[in-house]
Amino acid sequence: MRLVHLSDPHLVAPGERLFGLDPLARLDAALAHLRHHEPDAELLLVTGDLTDRGEDRAYAALKQRLAALPQPTVLLLGNHDERAAFRRTFADHPRDDGGFVQSCVDGADGVSLVALDTLVRGHEHGALDGGRLAWLERRLAERADRAVYLAMHHPPVACGIPGMDAIGLADVDAFWAVVAEAPQVRHVFAGHIHRPFFARRGDVTVSTLPSPAHQVHLQYAAADVVLGSHEPGCYGVATLAPDGFDLHVRAFTDTSPRFVLDAGGYGATTPSDLPPVPHPYDHLI
Ligand SMILES: [Fe+2]
Repeated sequence: MRLVHLSDPHLVAPGERLFGLDPLARLDAALAHLRHHEPDAELLLVTGDLTDRGEDRAYAALKQRLAALPQPTVLLLGNHDERAAFRRTFADHPRDDGGFVQSCVDGADGVSLVALDTLVRGHEHGALDGGRLAWLERRLAERADRAVYLAMHHPPVACGIPGMDAIGLADVDAFWAVVAEAPQVRHVFAGHIHRPFFARRGDVTVSTLPSPAHQVHLQYAAADVVLGSHEPGCYGVATLAPDGFDLHVRAFTDTSPRFVLDAGGYGATTPSDLPPVPHPYDHLI
């Protein structure tokens, strides 16, 4: 399964800005970039904070964009989302019997994606209470003979940034107790951190990605604020297989020059001195 992972677009109403950026324009740029560079993508996974304030107009803009994509989409909610508003716009998006936005995709290659809803209404931290973890247990039991990749907004590990860890997943121990009984679980694709971050617990790895919009500054010192940044906007591209996976991170907002290695650019003193990529290699850009 060839998966595009995009997280935390934080859409606001069209035309409005957030932290000096236009999140909808960033999403449009990300989707245009992946259409061009990732034509084999089979599925788009968006791990929450679809919107910044849960506005209907932001969800409507997202729905319009996703409708133009050739791939199906798995959407998750983050702490910035509003479940009721999401449901109003995405009435047909799968959810579990409790109304949580949780769903499964079973690929023909023996790989499954199981998406979890960690939103706690009115709070920034996440949780899997209210039957969500039991739902995961049942889905895993049904998929004992498949390779399972999980997706959730709040990562089930601390990242070392105090302000983000303070609003992490509340019931991590219960989550890992369920996963410990499911050796078919390979990896967790998460959001929330707005940074590239990789971790491993037991045999299961965890990754997060930069947002397509604003990022979180890497800050280990305790403080009562979280610093943001405008590091490049990114999305990830993963190939999921029964026995493992790989993941690339694409910084789609990066406009630095591309150049041929081992060619005439060695002596360039500034990036603008680099010779452009010549034909017939320019199509590689
Ligand atoms: Fe976020």
